[in-house]
Amino acid sequence: MENYCIKDINLAEKGKKNISYSIKELPVLTKIKERFEAEKPLVGIKVGMALHITTETAYLVDVLVAGGAEVAICSCNPLSSQDDSCAYLASKGIKCFGYKGETKEDYYKFIENVIKFKPHITIDDGCDLVNMLHEKYPELIANVIGGAEETTTGIQRLQAMQKAGALKYPMIATNDNFTKHMFDNHYGTGQSAIDGIIRASNILIAGKTFVVVGYGDCGKGVAKRAQGLGARVIVTEIDANPALQAVLDGHRVMKFCDAAKEGDIFLTVTGNKHVIPAEFAKTMRDGAILANAGHFDNEIDINGLKELATEMEEVRPLFMRYRINDRDIFVAGEGRLVNLACAEGHPSSVLDMSFAGQALAVEFLVKNKGKLEVGVINLPKELDYKIAEMKLQTLGIELDQLTKEQLEYLNSWQEGT
Ligand code: ADE
Repeated sequence: MENYCIKDINLAEKGKKNISYSIKELPVLTKIKERFEAEKPLVGIKVGMALHITTETAYLVDVLVAGGAEVAICSCNPLSSQDDSCAYLASKGIKCFGYKGETKEDYYKFIENVIKFKPHITIDDGCDLVNMLHEKYPELIANVIGGAEETTTGIQRLQAMQKAGALKYPMIATNDNFTKHMFDNHYGTGQSAIDGIIRASNILIAGKTFVVVGYGDCGKGVAKRAQGLGARVIVTEIDANPALQAVLDGHRVMKFCDAAKEGDIFLTVTGNKHVIPAEFAKTMRDGAILANAGHFDNEIDINGLKELATEMEEVRPLFMRYRINDRDIFVAGEGRLVNLACAEGHPSSVLDMSFAGQALAVEFLVKNKGKLEVGVINLPKELDYKIAEMKLQTLGIELDQLTKEQLEYLNSWQEGT
């Protein structure tokens, strides 16, 4: 097997420059890197990764290597790799497989390459690596200490595997760290998904009707940012609690079939399939833009749109026009993660915490080899909390401390009014 398969190794210098620039926004990871350099907790450990290969991910690889790990990495989405980051990693001798615009064939071949590296630890974003390892290479599972999963969709899949008795090693749900989903999903997706839509379409958000499909952590973040940019936000939901929250956050909530007729911009953030069925495109306004910020590209029924369209054309990079029912409907980023397909993904500052969670998860798995239960587990709360403390420290923010009297009060039950 070749050591790398990337677009252009000559982009390595550009990748290095981007990482050097981003390090200012990655202080928590840098602290972990310095500790790993001194303590070398990952010597002898092979880490196999399927993540979006970006500037921040390349730095996470640097952190793991500083700890003594050997790393092989592939992309977790055919459109999300940043070619300069891939080149940087390959130039440093990391087994790196990914380029922006991968064919489906290459996408799965690259995952296979990482599996053939025989990792002791897997880091996944979306569960494709863990899935293929279990389905096609079960004989390599004995080699694996554990894994960590970055995203909500991946955790849903792991839980389904666990329920079916198919999951064979401990998987840390990194996404469920407070310091991951409360920041990366909310502020990261909130900003980067809109960034992707703007870069793809160059459209003014102010005055538009912006439909957010799904009001989880990501949906809440996107709705808040769209509102801040002057859009009128409509939320569609299937769950009463987030729907109610959306109402009290000042958004209109309605069924998708009604929102379809009103929206100028539609963004899916549900983790579910065909939440924008193609038939609704017939009722949408001329010029409507559809985009997805959920993990997989099946939230918008793109094949259905293709069937309905009488014309199709790429009017701007990764921005397709479909002529349906005498109207132009646009789709950004082929319905794949718009923040990574059409922009650069989340800003470094939030990934600082998400990837600190991944680095600490790897260390935790190694330290607790053989002691963890098989299934989806959480990173211990103290480690999650430590990430928040480190982030605040790097921001120069201090906290108050409870007085002795307050501590006693909080631990007592006798004192009332
Ligand atoms: N997920 C969202 N944004 C990302 C980024 N910049 N790098 C890696 N994973 C991401």
